[in-house]
Amino acid sequence: MTDQDSRRANPTEHAFENTLLWKIKVWLQFTGWLLYIANFVAVILMLLLAAIGSWIGIWPVILVWLPLALAAVLAINLCFDIATVRYDLRPREPLPAARTGMNAFDLMRARVSCRSFQSRGLTPEHLAELNNVAAKQCAPDNLLGRHPIRFEYIAAPLTVWPTVGCREFLVAIAPAKYNRLAVIDVGRSLQKVVLHLARMGLSTCWIGPGADQNSIIHHLGDRFAPARDHVICVCAVGYASRFKPLALRAMQRSQRKRLPLVELFFEDPSFSKPLNTTAMPFDGFKRCYEVCQWSPSSYNWQTTRCAAVTEQVEGVETLIRFDFGANTQSKFYAAVAVGIWCANWETGCHAIDQKGHFQVLSKDARNIEAAPELPRYDISWIVEETAT
Ligand SMILES: Cc1cc2nc3c(=O)[nH]c(=O)nc-3n(C[C@H](O)[C@H](O)[C@H](O)COP(=O)(O)O)c2cc1C
Repeated sequence: MTDQDSRRANPTEHAFENTLLWKIKVWLQFTGWLLYIANFVAVILMLLLAAIGSWIGIWPVILVWLPLALAAVLAINLCFDIATVRYDLRPREPLPAARTGMNAFDLMRARVSCRSFQSRGLTPEHLAELNNVAAKQCAPDNLLGRHPIRFEYIAAPLTVWPTVGCREFLVAIAPAKYNRLAVIDVGRSLQKVVLHLARMGLSTCWIGPGADQNSIIHHLGDRFAPARDHVICVCAVGYASRFKPLALRAMQRSQRKRLPLVELFFEDPSFSKPLNTTAMPFDGFKRCYEVCQWSPSSYNWQTTRCAAVTEQVEGVETLIRFDFGANTQSKFYAAVAVGIWCANWETGCHAIDQKGHFQVLSKDARNIEAAPELPRYDISWIVEETAT
């Protein structure tokens, strides 16, 4: 899949790949038990602390009873999580309501990666709409590039990490021969599907490094041809469940953070001066900046950057385009993240009637003397006319 991306990002981790400890970790990870290990270890540590406290014989309330009480609470939580999530002993949860009247910006902010799905499958109506929107977003007319991409639907418990309970997926496939614009198209088109599903009340989770490639290829069967296809990532689709292991709750909280806008948007093509998004002429794009900031990205790495480009027209500083690019050399996940930004940017512009279109410009057309190596340029949003 996109192994090189994660290798480059985390070389130390890959140095341990052949050790027994690593193999145990991978086994626990893909069987799903790793999610419960932290809770289990915390119980053991609390019991150890209580044992040491009782042996020392001082401050029994703090050194014995408190750790014992914590161990009991954590143990009860662990048993509850295993029963409800792992063995699915939970009440049937209601279908989520559609977000019909929600404005586009609030919808993009409401989307979060779902880490725990209900055990029920999609209703026939939801499944039909999923397949429709997936096919529509991959249609050649809806792509930025000329290379075909497609989303294959799979109903099977693929081996994924760390999200639990996923049974239905879209597998994003680009041509086997690498083409960056095709990978950006995967990000853009799949994010549009994700937003459509969010409006229907469905939940999603992009899964790239956490999906087992062999499991995906096995379930695709003859719909995958290695000479023709490259699996970029998958997207789990379903109904969110309230039941989640403690570790997933903690993980999800840590991912609800984003870089400030001044580290993402710039006022010059060399990406050195932060953009004042509330000053003229940039303020017309309102919450478009915010919804890019809150886009999903692999490991929440937030690798996309954007530079506004202005020109003096009859003595007035006029906004002509926004250049989007990635601040890493990653060939896959950073390109997907650029595509996701494009989808949110476009959706936002459409909502506030800011006219424009995406176009890949040559170096000459961009007319930039000293473009930095990073962020590397990917695509521009050409401003057609500014809404008043
Ligand atoms: C290309 C891509 C790959 C991702 N891969 C995984 C994954 O393997 N496992 C996972 O649980 N989440 C994955 N995510 C979800 C991110 O972790 C998530 O988007 C990020 O932490 C921000 O959280 P949010 O989506 O809730 O806003 C991926 C997201 C993207 C865009």
